[in-house]
Amino acid sequence: MSSIQTYTQATPEAGLKRALGMSRPDIIHEMNESGLKGRGGAGFPVGGKWNFAASAKSEKKYIICNADEGEPGTFKDRVVLQEHADLVFEGMTIAAKAVGSREGILFLRGEYTDLREHLEDTLQRRREQKLLGDNIQGSGVDFDIRVFIGAGAYICGEETALIECLEGNRGEPRNRPPYPVNTGFNGHPSVVNNVESLASAACIMGRGADWWKTMGTAKSTGMKLFSISGDCARPGVYEFDLGVTVADILKEVGGEGAKAVQVGGASGRCIPPSEYARSIAYEDIPTGGGSLIVFGQQRDMLDVLENFMDFFGDESCGQCTPCRVGNLKLLEGVKLLRAGKCSMSYLKELCALGETMQIASKCGLGQSSPNAFLSVVAHFRDEIMGRTYSQA
Ligand SMILES: Cc1cc2nc3c(=O)[nH]c(=O)nc-3n(C[C@H](O)[C@H](O)[C@H](O)COP(=O)(O)O)c2cc1C
Ligand code: SF4
Repeated sequence: MSSIQTYTQATPEAGLKRALGMSRPDIIHEMNESGLKGRGGAGFPVGGKWNFAASAKSEKKYIICNADEGEPGTFKDRVVLQEHADLVFEGMTIAAKAVGSREGILFLRGEYTDLREHLEDTLQRRREQKLLGDNIQGSGVDFDIRVFIGAGAYICGEETALIECLEGNRGEPRNRPPYPVNTGFNGHPSVVNNVESLASAACIMGRGADWWKTMGTAKSTGMKLFSISGDCARPGVYEFDLGVTVADILKEVGGEGAKAVQVGGASGRCIPPSEYARSIAYEDIPTGGGSLIVFGQQRDMLDVLENFMDFFGDESCGQCTPCRVGNLKLLEGVKLLRAGKCSMSYLKELCALGETMQIASKCGLGQSSPNAFLSVVAHFRDEIMGRTYSQA
């Protein structure tokens, strides 16, 4: 039995069958009405993205499912692919009808190769059921999907680096604009959507935008999947309506009394107990990819930071200076703090560096990698500076 109720309750192929009988603008209108925002991190409206690709003129268009899921602390897409692969492929096929695409690609994280056989079997069964291939369900729509295995780099989850990788190049982010919806895979308009975005889109087409809006808040509609890990009694993948408070989540997972919660994975923000009454929603604490890492009272926040900054230093693609050098400087700063050798004025300089990285880095990796550092300095200053003075 799946832990994801909304997906388990979906009537198989109801969304696809409905979409096949609708016009492209009507499908996009339904997605816009639902208010569904991308679940991969950036929160861009799904209907808006489909509309851009639908409006682009090109003989070829691509639907790409981003199943790279490399953000530390994030593992919900893996569960969706394991338990609801049909819903993901259904969502891709609906997107294909909406934008006029004949080819889909599922970009699977290199570390998830064990899922490949299951995904290929599901695709084959869908072809036999005429849910993929030529003239799907007699609708005149032709669309098929292939699986591409990534090579295990975090940066390849960034949509333009992912496209570079698909093209056989080194996985490095491109300048934007142009955006993939205009110039994507092999120069053709491409929709890149997260696994959960596509599965949720299929549910919305099946049950309607109004149903989706009964969940969540006015600005953050629907339910969201959360990967919850760390110091809690019941880690795992959970489904909550957007707008849920951090405190409610902690209660559900047995993480009450936590010292801090990292919302949005390593690239998200670390929040202290004084903010647990806040809600996870685009208008309050952004979800990112929907990961919560719970830190118990025993955790040393410098251990947490060292771990994250070490990760970003390794995973930076090195193309731009703020990220390539900045992450290593912040890691060095954490080590200085640990050794009691970081003065208050140098800490200020490190924070200014972090803010510069947020503004000046070329892609989301460098723009978000200082978040944890800056939020730990803001909320746990006594803990990290205490060491500075006691050991100086
Ligand atoms: C460093 C980095 C890694 C990313 N990794 C992923 C990922 O693993 N999966 C994902 O869906 N989006 C990831 N993204 C976001 C994608 O670039 C893109 O915004 C997303 O796939 C769009 O899908 P959505 O609109 O459905 O959320 C990443 C972004 C960055 C900057
Ligand atoms: S921000 Fe980092 S990962 Fe992104 S392009 Fe620059 S160096 Fe590469």
